[in-house]
Parts: sequence; structure tokens; C-alpha cells
Amino acid sequence: MSIELAVSFTGLRFENPFLLASAPPTESDSNIIRAFDAGWGGVVTKTIGLHPVVNVAGPKTKFLRATPDSSHLSMQKRPGTALHSSWNWELISDKAIDWWAPRLSRIKKAHPDRILIVSIMAGSGSDEELRHWQELATICQDEGADALELNLSCPHMDRKDMGSNIGKDQELISIVAQVVKEVSKVPVWAKLTPSTTDIVEEARAAFLGGADAISSSNTFPSLPLIDPVTLEFEMNVDGLVSSGGLGGPAILPQSMAKMSQMTQAFHDKAFSGIGGIASFDHALNYFLLGCGTVQVCTAAMLDHAIGPNVLKALIADMRSTMEKRGWATIEDFRGLRRDRVVAHSKIRRPDARAYFGGYETEGYAAPNPSAGSPVR
Ligand SMILES: Cc1cc2nc3c(=O)[nH]c(=O)nc-3n(C[C@H](O)[C@H](O)[C@H](O)COP(=O)(O)O)c2cc1C
Repeated sequence: MSIELAVSFTGLRFENPFLLASAPPTESDSNIIRAFDAGWGGVVTKTIGLHPVVNVAGPKTKFLRATPDSSHLSMQKRPGTALHSSWNWELISDKAIDWWAPRLSRIKKAHPDRILIVSIMAGSGSDEELRHWQELATICQDEGADALELNLSCPHMDRKDMGSNIGKDQELISIVAQVVKEVSKVPVWAKLTPSTTDIVEEARAAFLGGADAISSSNTFPSLPLIDPVTLEFEMNVDGLVSSGGLGGPAILPQSMAKMSQMTQAFHDKAFSGIGGIASFDHALNYFLLGCGTVQVCTAAMLDHAIGPNVLKALIADMRSTMEKRGWATIEDFRGLRRDRVVAHSKIRRPDARAYFGGYETEGYAAPNPSAGSPVR
């Protein structure tokens, strides 16, 4: 049986549905060319703005690790630990568009058949700033971008009209999508923040503005833990910290919940799933919920910066899963579990005889006989 890993997404043909997300793995032309050499179906560049930015002093990313069979969680490097999450407070690319422009066309020349999505970001507080979005979009597509991803989701922005602060404002989402669509000849994806009450509303605003796809999730707002010995945040500069973004394994279930809400609300729209993907089993969750592509960041950062081994396993395991299950293309399984997520009231209840209020049957520690009856 012939297996087809290639997918069509927003009118573009990807050799496989695995993309590097906008982040350190795609922060330079040399990284992106290495990523394409390794076989990634597409990459989303690190977000590009018109002006250079300066990051905090000290590390921009750290990894929180769990000790098996223990409750210990820490960013300190220890042997025998398992990755819990990444935590970052990195801003957009510290290289501005004039650095990137010639490099975008160099990447396309080196890999004309691979899909280059350029992530862009500007302010949105005035007509002039909205024109910055258009300027970025025009330069990137003229240099060969196959698609644009609007960063409406960076969680580290103090400005009220940038990053995830746009992603929390439905009107601004529509306006930004619309102004970019006015000048774009290539598909426009909107990357939304998970940090809102009902992401369906923000997705609707993006589609109303003309967005061709939604990418989700960016990282979830979070703080590093406080070291119980020093009483300092495990990540800080001069004792100070600011809200950063959580990625990696910890956010897979949370990001799935956001994605499921959107794919159910918009059956016919295109979605690119992001959050906690390190293996095909993880990616499969997003495909079964209805996504047409997926993006990887944290797992790739930890695998030679651009994830060659992660990708090799994603491809091999996608192929073997499809062979085993008799699936010829992604369309044979995309969305298969989308409609299994239902309102809580639709979940079957046991009959009265089998119902023990949840206490006796599951997961709770046996009551301590000396402590008497539990208080309920
Ligand atoms: C260090 C770091 C920098 C990031 N920079 C960007 C960025 O510039 N633009 C963007 O849209 N997302 C950025 N992200 C978010 C990732 O693209 C991705 O949405 C998030 O990390 C969740 O995926 P993961 O669980 O595979 O890490 C960054 C993430 C990390 C860890």
C-alpha cells in the first residue's frame, strides 16, 4: 500500500506535515537551511519586526525537570530527570527585517520546494503602525516567503498593542489580519495566544479579518519556581523576574483543549497544532482533533538545535502508524476524534447503585483509620 506523507495546507504542498515553530530553532538562515536539509516539511521563522530588539541579561530559556517517583521539580540540571517544560522570556528576533530580507531569498534559493513561513510582528496602535505590518508582509513575500504567520501571541510584551495583547482583543485581531491580507499574495496564518477565556472568539475574529489558518498555541504565561533554599526565582536577573512563557510536555493537554474548541467551531478551516510535541504520538493528538500540520519548538531546541532526530522519528512513526492502520493519507485520520469532545452533561453517569461519589473507586489514598471519617 502506498503511503503519502505530503499534505496540502492553505493551498501549499508540504512534503510532510512537520514544521519547526517560530523560535530559536529558526532564528537564522543557517539554522533554517540545516532544518530543511534534515527534512522538515516547513519552517516558521523566528518572529521578525522592523526594528532590532534587546533581550534580558542572562539566559532567555530554561528547562524545568521532574525527578521520577518524587515531587521534586527544578530547573537545576540533575541526572535521571525528565523534561517537564521549557520556560522562556525571549523577545522576537533581535535581528530586524533588513538583516533577514536577503537571507529569506537565500533560504528559498537553497530549498525552493520547502515551505518557508515568515512570522512577523508590529504594533497596532495607529495607522502608521498598521502600515508596518504591511511593510513587513510585502518585503517578506517579495523575498520568497510562501506564507506569513502573524504573531498575535508573544506573551512578553509590555505594550498594550503588541503580541498577545493584540491576541486578546478581537477587534485588533481582525484589523491586523485585514491590513495584512490587503497586501498579501500568500496565505496568512494567525498565531493566537492561549491566554484568553474563549479562544473560539479570537479565532472567529482572525477568520473575519481574512486569515487563512490559525496556529495555536504559543507559550502559556507562567513564572519560574522559587528555590526553597535561596528563596530566589530559579530564573531571575538581579532578583527580578517577569511573566514568561511555558512550552514543552506540560502544555500538550492544555494546548489540545484550546485546539479542540477551535476545530469543533470551524470544521472547514485550517489549523496548525503547536504545544508539547516531541513524538508522533503527541502529533497524532492534533491531527485527530483536525489539524493539517503541526509545529515543534522545545523538543527541537533540545535535539541539536533544529531537531534532526525528533524529525526522523516523527516521519518513521507516522509512516509505520499509517501502514499499521491502513491509512493512505492524512485525510484518512484528520479530525477522527474531533467530535468526541462534548459538553460535560453529555458524558454518561453510572446508575445509582454503582455510584460512590467518586471517593471509593479512584486514585485517592486509603483513608487513615486513626484519623476517623473524612470530612466531606
Ligand atoms: C525560547 C522560545 C522563543 C520563542 N519565540 C517565539 C517567537 O519569536 N514567535 C512565536 O510566534 N513563538 C515563539 N515561541 C513559541 C513557540 O513557537 C511555540 O509556540 C511554543 O514554544 C510551544 O511549542 P513547544 O511546546 O513545542 O515548545 C518561542 C518559544 C520559545 C521556547
